[in-house]
Amino acid sequence: MKKIHNDLLQKEKEGKILSATDPRRLAYHLMPPTGWLNDPNGLCRFNGTTHIFYQYSPDNCFGGNKAWGHYTTKDYIHYKELPIALYPDSWMDQNGAYSGSCYEKDGLLHFFYTGNIKFEGNHDYIHSGRGHYVNHFTSPDGYEFSDKECLLKNEDYPSDMTCHVRDPKVFSYKGHDYMVLGARTNKDEGCVLIFKALDKDLKKWEYQTRIETEKPFGYMWECPDLFQLEGKDVLITCPQGLEQDGYKYQPLYQNGYFILKGNPEEGYTPNEFTEMDYGFDFYAPQTYLDDQNRRILIGWMGLPDVEYKNPETDYKWQHALTLPRVLRFKEDKLYGYPIEEITALRKEEIQVQLKKDETYDLKTQIGEIQLSDLPDEFTIHFRKDIVLKYQNKVFTLKMKDSGMGRNSRNIPVGSLKEISIFSDSSSLEIFLNHGEYSLTTRVYDESDKTSIQASENMDMTFYPYNSFEVETDLKPNAYVGCSK
Ligand code: FRU
Repeated sequence: MKKIHNDLLQKEKEGKILSATDPRRLAYHLMPPTGWLNDPNGLCRFNGTTHIFYQYSPDNCFGGNKAWGHYTTKDYIHYKELPIALYPDSWMDQNGAYSGSCYEKDGLLHFFYTGNIKFEGNHDYIHSGRGHYVNHFTSPDGYEFSDKECLLKNEDYPSDMTCHVRDPKVFSYKGHDYMVLGARTNKDEGCVLIFKALDKDLKKWEYQTRIETEKPFGYMWECPDLFQLEGKDVLITCPQGLEQDGYKYQPLYQNGYFILKGNPEEGYTPNEFTEMDYGFDFYAPQTYLDDQNRRILIGWMGLPDVEYKNPETDYKWQHALTLPRVLRFKEDKLYGYPIEEITALRKEEIQVQLKKDETYDLKTQIGEIQLSDLPDEFTIHFRKDIVLKYQNKVFTLKMKDSGMGRNSRNIPVGSLKEISIFSDSSSLEIFLNHGEYSLTTRVYDESDKTSIQASENMDMTFYPYNSFEVETDLKPNAYVGCSK
């Protein structure tokens, strides 16, 4: 097993040389050093350091066998790239160390993740042939890890579940510890299972209840995250299998939240589902609480199973993470906006009035653009072929060539006061009304496409950005081992 790991490290080393030459590498977003990245995992803030793990296949930029990559940061500007923390090298996770999370209890970090196992034979891997286990390991500091251990297998889940039960996230309620798991029932209905811990070491778990909607809502719910914020119980999850309905559910797979009534003992009733991000590349977000009591969300800047030609795969890498976003409620609506620390990347402040139809050259794609004093209707042309339009109370993002086949997204927005755009060499995170709505998308144009033009007068403040500093610290330290 150790040998496979060493081969992989060699491939990672080689892949990084090519990936680093891609002009589309992002300046201030986390990417895989090479290969593939998807969900953020194991997010936590511990001893003044934020640990960001992520689904990572260093040797296959189209997916492949998932390990956990690892970054840390203290200030969200300087990062350390650490060695792979978790590798699928045992019977309990042999076909992928899938998504999971971190939970701090009595000063110890507990990690829970899904071990993906594909059994041999003729299977559909939904109703038979797949194991989705809950595995566990601990860490006193986020750097050294205990051996992994399997806590729950498919036979421990309710009998009406398919094999698809995954993505554990743990929370506490009235002094007890509970785990949510995303699930697909035999009737192809998405739901979230809740288990309760029976011991303080968090090794024994008992099925408690499930969260489901009155009417079926998609066939599978991935990546659940249940937390309290400002007195409300929130369940973020990613339902799959919803049909587009007007402006609703435009992405292939959804991301959004329910506000819940109830508790994990007697059960929860979800209210209506609200979508979170309307862009082309946002999925599998996970949150954590930091040492200032902020509920911070990081998402995968990508989406599974969507077919479009992504030019970065020519350089053997794919996908990135969003900026960390702080969540808060305004009335009953969840707002998400990039963490304030990011503004330390600002190089200078440029204030201009964009005049009707005049082109302004920003001179770089990398920075933060704030547009205010917005007229009732307008169109903005930006970079190579990005169009932002507000008309008849609908906000539209349009892309042509630079969308690589992804064209337009629309959001009904009753009142639009402000737009912030976090523009990077190949991504845009667009926030309306300071986080009431967001659209996250990858964009592929040439680095000299730096102009902006508005159809009406409006105020613009532009902050060109410095890049993240990412230090590589690949001392071969402990990765999660397996004793059994
Ligand atoms: C979401 C997801 C998770 C799973 C992981 C595998 O993108 O499908 O449900 O654990 O990715 O990489």
